[in-house]
Amino acid sequence: MEYILRTGDPDKLRTACLVVGVFDKCRLTEPAAALDKASEGFLSRTLKRGDLIGETGQSLMLYQVPGCRCERVLMIGLGPEKEWDLPSYRKAVARVTGILDASHATEAVTCLPALEPAQVDLYRVLRETVICSEDALYRFDRCKSNPKARRRPLKKLGLYTGTGRHPKAVQNAIPHGKAIAGGVAMAKDLGNLPGNLCTPDYLANQARALGRRSPNLRVRVLNEQQMGKLGMGALLSVSRGSRQPAKLIVMEYQGGKPGGKPVVIVGKGLTFDAGGISLKPAAAMDEMKYDMCGGASVLGTVAACTELDLPVNMVGIVPASENLPDGDANKPGDIVTSMSGQTIEVLNTDAEGRLILCDALTYAEKYNPAAVIDIATLTGACIIALGAHASGLLSNDDALAGEILAAGVRTGDRAWRLPLWDDYQEQLDSNFADMANIGGKGAGTITAACFLSRFTGKFKWAHLDIAGTAWKSGSKKGATGRPVQLLTQILLARCGQDKL
Ligand code: BES
Ligand code: MN
Ligand code: ZN
Repeated sequence: MEYILRTGDPDKLRTACLVVGVFDKCRLTEPAAALDKASEGFLSRTLKRGDLIGETGQSLMLYQVPGCRCERVLMIGLGPEKEWDLPSYRKAVARVTGILDASHATEAVTCLPALEPAQVDLYRVLRETVICSEDALYRFDRCKSNPKARRRPLKKLGLYTGTGRHPKAVQNAIPHGKAIAGGVAMAKDLGNLPGNLCTPDYLANQARALGRRSPNLRVRVLNEQQMGKLGMGALLSVSRGSRQPAKLIVMEYQGGKPGGKPVVIVGKGLTFDAGGISLKPAAAMDEMKYDMCGGASVLGTVAACTELDLPVNMVGIVPASENLPDGDANKPGDIVTSMSGQTIEVLNTDAEGRLILCDALTYAEKYNPAAVIDIATLTGACIIALGAHASGLLSNDDALAGEILAAGVRTGDRAWRLPLWDDYQEQLDSNFADMANIGGKGAGTITAACFLSRFTGKFKWAHLDIAGTAWKSGSKKGATGRPVQLLTQILLARCGQDKL
């Protein structure tokens, strides 16, 4: 969809639909009050009839409002003015987009951006508007034989910011929002695509396609033979149980100074996780197609970076494989040797994410990274700990952890830190190898990160466990595109195009 900035007097705006907010108890927002005045009280007379009093969730479409140049006015309830904040702003934007998309208007102007919630600058309000609208318009219907065509879809949305002129910083808001939303949509698409279509090879081809979009992006895909030469015995032990060959996808983006240390992001690209010989129960196993959402978020972030030509150096790495039971699959008790030389006793073949990640993290060393962030749907335990709202964050560096937490707060794509104390490391003791791949009953998210920490000693590193945040279950089943917003925010802040 196209977004444009609009200013001026609300009653003078020529549009098919003008959206104005009403706070609880019929309190007109400024643009609504301006329309009310121009229409000699039409809006307040309508409100007196009681159909809309401004509660959250209410909306009312008005036609032939006198004294205005728009064809329709959509009044939208915003709830109590005292509680107007960024989360309520996001909800209102999503609702408006849904109503507009279902209406007869293909073009509209929303006055909601003029109502900046406290402590939120205009840049951010506009960027959020774009991201939330795109999120609300997202559909995944490419696997339906007869997708429902949208009758008259919304094509153009004006963002009204008030009567004054725009500060300069605002110019970036719409392109930033569109690029981030594009990255989020890409991550959602890859996540929602089923395991028979979204294979390691498919992910590799998507990465190659990104490479063709930007001269600053070089994409390489290592095959199993090449990984074998590097000694990636942990990663390859997982793909041995699958007929789909594993891929190590490497995306090198150089938008910054040549030789500048890159930020490396590593995403788990497990395109289907049946558990292997430690087979998972049948219920909801289909959702394990989402086990590549970490990798998808890396591709989405790379896409956003290239779209904006961000002046940063970054490398995206996605180890991609399936995890299935097979005569050649890992067996409980098997011992494998990782690229780092450390040996691992595979006590549970379902703890495969850390096996493919550990070799990818060792591979990341060669970039002499400024920081490494890995993103993985790693443990069911993280859903128990944090539910669907926050991603788990574990890190060996307080400054990096702080940066990630702040980027999460700023975007609403939040993380929460868990400890990575040495006390937990002994849970990984093995009688036969350097370590086991599971840490027993307690603190599953932490012991998984402890495992990864044994491969990240040489750089600043953070791990995001997105098991609870990467997708929604139930009737709204679908990928969320998290944490593309958080990752992009870190890069935007690092190159000075936004703050934390
Ligand atoms: N991909 C799963 C983690 C997962 C499970 C994410 C459910 C989201 C929902 C991972 O590969 C896994 O199976 N982890 C095991 C680890 C255990 C064997 C130590 C788990 O969490 O049960
Ligand atoms: Mn698993
Ligand atoms: Zn998994």
